[in-house]
Amino acid sequence: MESKTDFNFGIPVERRNTASMKWDRYKGRDIIPLWVADMDFCSPPAVIDALHQRIAHGVFGYTTPPESLNTVVVERLQADYGWAVQPQWLVWLPGLVTGLNVACRAVGRDNDDVMTAVPIYPPFLTAPANSRRRIIKVPLQEKDNRWKFDFDRLESAITSRTRLFLLCNPHNPVGRVFTRDELTALAAICEKHDIIICSDEIHCGLLLGDDNIHLPTATLGPEVAQRTITLMSPSKTFNLPGLGCAFAVICDEKLRRQFIKATSGIVPLVNALGFAAAEAAYRDCADWHAQLLEYLCGNREMVVRAIADMPPLTMALPEATYLAWIDVRSAGLTNPVRFFEDAGVGLQDGIEFDGPGFVRLNFGCPGPLLEQALERMKSAMGTLTHF
Ligand SMILES: Cc1ncc(COP(=O)(O)O)c(C=O)c1O
Repeated sequence: MESKTDFNFGIPVERRNTASMKWDRYKGRDIIPLWVADMDFCSPPAVIDALHQRIAHGVFGYTTPPESLNTVVVERLQADYGWAVQPQWLVWLPGLVTGLNVACRAVGRDNDDVMTAVPIYPPFLTAPANSRRRIIKVPLQEKDNRWKFDFDRLESAITSRTRLFLLCNPHNPVGRVFTRDELTALAAICEKHDIIICSDEIHCGLLLGDDNIHLPTATLGPEVAQRTITLMSPSKTFNLPGLGCAFAVICDEKLRRQFIKATSGIVPLVNALGFAAAEAAYRDCADWHAQLLEYLCGNREMVVRAIADMPPLTMALPEATYLAWIDVRSAGLTNPVRFFEDAGVGLQDGIEFDGPGFVRLNFGCPGPLLEQALERMKSAMGTLTHF
């Protein structure tokens, strides 16, 4: 167990020359990378210790999910959500994107339809076609600076071949934590039309502020649980995405068999280090996690204030994640990402999320770096003479 330590999220960690996807995009250029969703923080000390211990053993053969890890996950799901999960419902995966693709492959047939709400994390958009499914995209609506499902539009877009809904909750990129009412309404539509729900909950450990409560879709009730594939991972919360360790929770035996069958021959086992890190993350990192959330709330505040000071840019308050979805439509920029890169800040283009006119900013980094990036953005906005 960790003692009360200050984890110092404000101290920068040099990530240049570490083959970091995030930092290498702008190698040799003075551009602060605030794009892909990993954080510039070290993982919790308890995770690093567990990795050292596993490495010290020195043998890295094929590894099965440790029973102790299954136990920790089951205990966490019970403690965090009152969700009674059986260990045999867990299917370990090398990543959540794998899980999204496997779900598309496992449910329905060629040319069936898979529905999702946009904007959305880009692999949601490509997974259906990878499995010869067609995608139906329904826009989320922004009302009073809050993103919501448009249930009428969603239901009317369902076809007789719609078999699967890809849900992201908490939502990347808009940062919503959907409420019980919203999830219940969505689940009711899926039940009515016999649609399986694949619920990507990778950001569920990143709730910002006490008002937000994560409800796993499968906990809405037994009927919903039967038609739900839940995808989770310690990778976002504990900053482990490079270790490739995730899991699906599927209580329905038939659906679980279909899912496992669809992994056959193409999905590798999770690696030994991923398992070791996941177990320590879920078991021993409560203090680190609490301090991280506090730190991210501070960074969110900094972003919200800075964007309010950059008219005409606007953003809705992210309820979870370390991602800000910024509306740049009124700024008259032909290429917003290029504009901010020229100013020394690397953001992600909303077009990739089916959200043109927006940019996504990752605020999972030390405050001073974030501050510098926001100052650069503000100066660049100041050069636009028409505001
Ligand atoms: C909603 C969502 N799902 C999945 C992933 C990626 O998961 P993985 O790295 O486990 O494939 C991300 C990463 O940003 C994400 O935001």
